[in-house]
Amino acid sequence: MSRTVQTFDLASGVKIPWLGWGNGSGQARNVPVQAGLIALKAGIRHVDTAQNYLNEGAVGETVANSGLSKDEIFVTSKLPVNEVRPAVQESIKKLGFIPDLFLIHSPHVAALADLKKTWQVLEEMKDAGELKEIGVSNFRPQDLEVVLDGAKYQPAVNQIEYHPYTLAHLEPVLAIQAKHGILTESFGPLTPLLRHPTGGPVKPVLTKIAKRVTESNPSLPIPVDEVVVLLLWTRAMGVVAVTASGNEERIKLLAEISYLPENILTKEEVQEITSVGKTVHFRHYREHMEKDFALPDLPDGTT
Ligand SMILES: NC(=O)c1ccc[n+]([C@@H]2O[C@H](COP(=O)([O-])OP(=O)(O)OC[C@H]3O[C@@H](n4cnc5c(N)ncnc54)[C@H](OP(=O)(O)O)[C@@H]3O)[C@@H](O)[C@H]2O)c1
Repeated sequence: MSRTVQTFDLASGVKIPWLGWGNGSGQARNVPVQAGLIALKAGIRHVDTAQNYLNEGAVGETVANSGLSKDEIFVTSKLPVNEVRPAVQESIKKLGFIPDLFLIHSPHVAALADLKKTWQVLEEMKDAGELKEIGVSNFRPQDLEVVLDGAKYQPAVNQIEYHPYTLAHLEPVLAIQAKHGILTESFGPLTPLLRHPTGGPVKPVLTKIAKRVTESNPSLPIPVDEVVVLLLWTRAMGVVAVTASGNEERIKLLAEISYLPENILTKEEVQEITSVGKTVHFRHYREHMEKDFALPDLPDGTT
């Protein structure tokens, strides 16, 4: 039976699968071809890579050997430096195609004053058909404002560490993105469960909801645990989840999650995860977003 990929719309109307499989972390980074082939065969249709992960070539090889047409797979890559044109050309050469989405990996690739120019080169390349969708990653409010000022194209996405424990800090970023129709992509969506020392106050809420969903949906194709609920919460927030795995069973599970129908979580459950999450600030990837961007005065949720 054919399954329909579940997607969000970018501002341009281009569709992006709501769950992406990244090869920039964990075991997936070490065995990107093997894991990538498992992911595509299992049904993953969104692959997240970057020049910095040193495996764009592996993505090209995976896509070419997948038995799928490139058009069926949404691929993102990212710019690590401020020499835009040669870097884009390098990505395209390694991938073997123009990525569907190309992001400035971090605002720190250029001084704040030079970010505008970096964005303008990406806009020119998009106009020339050398790039498709363009966006940003790890952008703070001040970075978004610089790029948006007089922009021909707004960033399609901002890929940031997004989960319940970054919500309070991200409020000003999310407000700008809502105003300009910039889709949020979450990396590190499983951080509350995998990287927070105790799981914090959201963990028992996820456990309770997983039990409720399991009991009321006996025909779901996969067991529903806290990981599944946290990814479904990300989707319910209108946010793309960029997750990862190098483990065959877990890759297949992620693929199954990506095809689950909407509205498995109730509005009240989504709201409970959100409001409990906002009582804590905890971030794993700290180097980009915590510089010159005031932190909320909140506990880290370890006690
Ligand atoms: N733009 C940026 O600056 C930036 C920064 C960080 C990450 N990223 C992108 O986002 C991707 C994901 O980042 P992340 O690793 O932080 O995401 P994450 O979703 O928080 O964590 C992924 C980890 O979760 C584990 N996992 C997956 N399914 C699981 C399950 N069912 N149960 C338990 N554990 C499970 C995997 O470990 P196993 O391999 O052992 O299954 C994997 O290492 C990266 O690969 C990269 O593409 C971007």
